[in-house]
Amino acid sequence: MDAFVIEGGRPMNGRVVVNGSKNAALPLMAAALMTEEPVTLTDIPRLADIANMRRLLEELGCECAEPEHADDDAPMALTMRTTDDSGSHARYEIVKTMRAGICVLGPLLARRGEGRVSLPGGCAIGQRPVDLHLRGLAALGAEITLTAGDIVAQAPVGPDGARRLRGATVFLGGPNGSTVLGTANVMSAACLAEGRTVIECAACEPEVVDLAKLLNAMGARIEGAGTPRVTIDGVRTLHGATHRVMPDRIEAGTYMVAAAITGGSVTIENCPLDAMMAVTDRLREIGVRLDTRTGEDPMRAVCRASAEGPIAPAHVTTQPHPGFPTDLQAQFMALLSLAEGNSVVTEKIFPERFLHVAELTRMGAHIFRQGPTAVISGVRRLVGAPVMASDLRASACLVLAALAAEGTTNIHRVYHLDRGYQRMETRLRALGASIERVDANELDAAALT
Ligand code: EPU
Repeated sequence: MDAFVIEGGRPMNGRVVVNGSKNAALPLMAAALMTEEPVTLTDIPRLADIANMRRLLEELGCECAEPEHADDDAPMALTMRTTDDSGSHARYEIVKTMRAGICVLGPLLARRGEGRVSLPGGCAIGQRPVDLHLRGLAALGAEITLTAGDIVAQAPVGPDGARRLRGATVFLGGPNGSTVLGTANVMSAACLAEGRTVIECAACEPEVVDLAKLLNAMGARIEGAGTPRVTIDGVRTLHGATHRVMPDRIEAGTYMVAAAITGGSVTIENCPLDAMMAVTDRLREIGVRLDTRTGEDPMRAVCRASAEGPIAPAHVTTQPHPGFPTDLQAQFMALLSLAEGNSVVTEKIFPERFLHVAELTRMGAHIFRQGPTAVISGVRRLVGAPVMASDLRASACLVLAALAAEGTTNIHRVYHLDRGYQRMETRLRALGASIERVDANELDAAALT
């Protein structure tokens, strides 16, 4: 297993180009199951979750090909073509490594009339139910059962003998707002259903908008994506299309925090500013300077993030989009650990998503957590320590804290980080970080001698 060794205290300076978004790319890839024509996506990040989704699509009869001589350091272009519709089982062996495997369920049901997807198991960031996905698909007429740990869903048989979903009004509100992948699933499924579907309380996340753009380019008729009411008029078939994946707003935000926490200045290109209002607003409020240059497309803007003075404390509450994203909560907590005063962070999407708190505390942060809220009393300095990454965003939080800390931080289990950040150490090194990827066994052995 790999670990990072980070020597802190160096400002991050330079330029970074944001990759395509992992969370947008996964449901976009699943949409390729809905047509027999080729779907090409560009700017897909090279990440473990993407490789797993590719493997899953291939098992489901969808051939995935990269152009010859593809550059392994650059984001990938992938052409996906479904050539075999006969199987519809997303097995536990793949879904257990990647919860987003659930987003093949809607496309399979829509196109093949049935889908069998292993029910995702536990998750480090707390409970991750899929009841809203299932309720939404059931409203479109699917009959859903649980067999041997798998969700088995079948569309009703129509007058022509073929299985086809039926349009309906679907409410996707849950205890913590809507559901992003649930909206993706129901919206995709409705594209090939008979008649009109209206999704009420749909997730408004930009990744849902990106999926609607691809599906519409494939011939779907979706209106209202990005608002709480999405209307889909079903069509008989979809065709191929080419689409560039939207930039990753969480990666962009992580590099903004990297500049701020180290007192540096980082120019972030391909930055989806339009999708980041809550984040940029909060960064400005705490004293981070953001100089932005927006061309024709504010989703691909340039933003220079810099911080010279002290960081002010803040109140941050994670919310569904356009509120502050849960996927940047941990990274912000690292920054607020060094603020001048007391901050309050409340996690409203995944109330248990606080595994980074204990690790930040090992580095000298003063954090008191009660339930979904953490109070952070800013300290003057963080100090390097051996720490353990527990999930993707908690890993990013520890990397950021380590960049600012005095001395050396060893971060174990960085495979979590590799699920969401392409070659983060190479990119940070280019910005001036002292960061090495090492074999954790060697690190442990060295510590014992
Ligand atoms: N929820 C339910 N029932 C459901 C589905 C969700 O109660 O059927 C609840 C969840 O427990 C949570 C809330 O609804 O409290 C929102 O969950 P959502 O379904 O929106 O999460 P998701 O679609 O499974 C995606 C991202 C997550 C991100 C969340 C929230 C992908 C692959 N994952 O998950 O990303 O945190 O939306 O924005 O798109 C990450 O990248 O680190 C990550 C975890």
